[in-house]
Amino acid sequence: MNSLNQQFEFIRQSPTVAMNDRIVAFMATGKKVIPLQVGDPDFATPQPILDLAMKAMQSGLTHYGPSQGFPELRQAAALKLERDNDVIYDPESEILVTHGGIHAFYLAMQSILNPGDDVLVPDPTWATHANMAVMLRGNVIRVPAPAENGFLPSFADWERAITPRTRVIVINYPSNPTGAYPTRAYLQKLQDFAAAHHLWVVSDEVYENLFYGEKPTCTAAFPNAKERTLLVHSLSKTYAMTGWRVGYLAAPALVIENALKAGQNSITCVAPFVQKAAAFALSDPGVQQAAQEMRAAYARRREAVLRVAGELESKKVLAVPPMGAFYFFLDFRALKMPSLEICERLLSEAGMGLVPGAAFGQQGEGFVRMTIAASDEEVEAGFRKIVAWAETVKGG
Ligand SMILES: Cc1ncc(COP(=O)(O)O)c(C=O)c1O
Repeated sequence: MNSLNQQFEFIRQSPTVAMNDRIVAFMATGKKVIPLQVGDPDFATPQPILDLAMKAMQSGLTHYGPSQGFPELRQAAALKLERDNDVIYDPESEILVTHGGIHAFYLAMQSILNPGDDVLVPDPTWATHANMAVMLRGNVIRVPAPAENGFLPSFADWERAITPRTRVIVINYPSNPTGAYPTRAYLQKLQDFAAAHHLWVVSDEVYENLFYGEKPTCTAAFPNAKERTLLVHSLSKTYAMTGWRVGYLAAPALVIENALKAGQNSITCVAPFVQKAAAFALSDPGVQQAAQEMRAAYARRREAVLRVAGELESKKVLAVPPMGAFYFFLDFRALKMPSLEICERLLSEAGMGLVPGAAFGQQGEGFVRMTIAASDEEVEAGFRKIVAWAETVKGG
């Protein structure tokens, strides 16, 4: 038998995908399920984006395009970063168009990481962040971000995690799965910490437009922070464009040089008609309005869940209000049951599709992720079913 890359032995299948497969198989047996497990907007991509992509295809943009991305799209991304995030990036040298946020993250890590480098990742967080680091032969050090601390690592814990090999901090705010994001003061302190230890900060900001209180601060928007920060951006969540596979990396020019080589030698380019549509999406005022309307719908569903939680007053499942993204990280710790068992029972006994919190790290144990990127009816009915099921569980 020929040998394989052993690194993959350390990579678990994405738990969200695994749970989704289980739910789809369950539904295939004719059982009804309210699917609140996936992080994909339930909205259609706004029509003007579709129209523009169609036109671009018809005009012949169906061949190879520039690997770094069309200048027009890089310019649109730079203007967006300035407009929405108060950061200035040079579209010539500091922005690279990528195949979604996931690819931006991969290229970011590939550009800076050497085998054996330590990568600090909060726990809980989206599983892909750790998996990518492992694929690239990094050592993942998980830094506890417990519910009691607003799902943020304490600075004592960040400090404790440092070794002579630490090179990178990975953060994702608003967070998948918790919806948490830090204050400006916390981020400033994190940047100071990164500077003191000569660390890169890779900041996955794909949920930046989904917030329900004060707007989150961009991690690069502090004096001298840009030089050590790599921003991962995507059009997927903001514009309901998950299937288009387009995002971008904003980072120091030397990082972009590496990332461009990696992108060029792996995917050549993002489909040119998709790039055209993305440039339009980032800059068209009507599309920004459509994005705000989608955010308002998530906010409405979030309120509905909180209203029902207030009405039912369950002690067995707590709905902590998410600050951003489109998930509730429901607190089932009172049941003293593993989150995988909770999800399996909720699927078979209540017809609910959810993701176990343990899928996002040890600190996620006892929690369950429920998306609100589903219809108002599904979200409210689903949450009622979850509470009703929890109330039937004895003990806890
Ligand atoms: C935190 C986080 N980052 C990145 C992504 C990837 O998004 P994209 O569709 O842009 O690749 C996701 C998708 O669920 C996510 O939750």
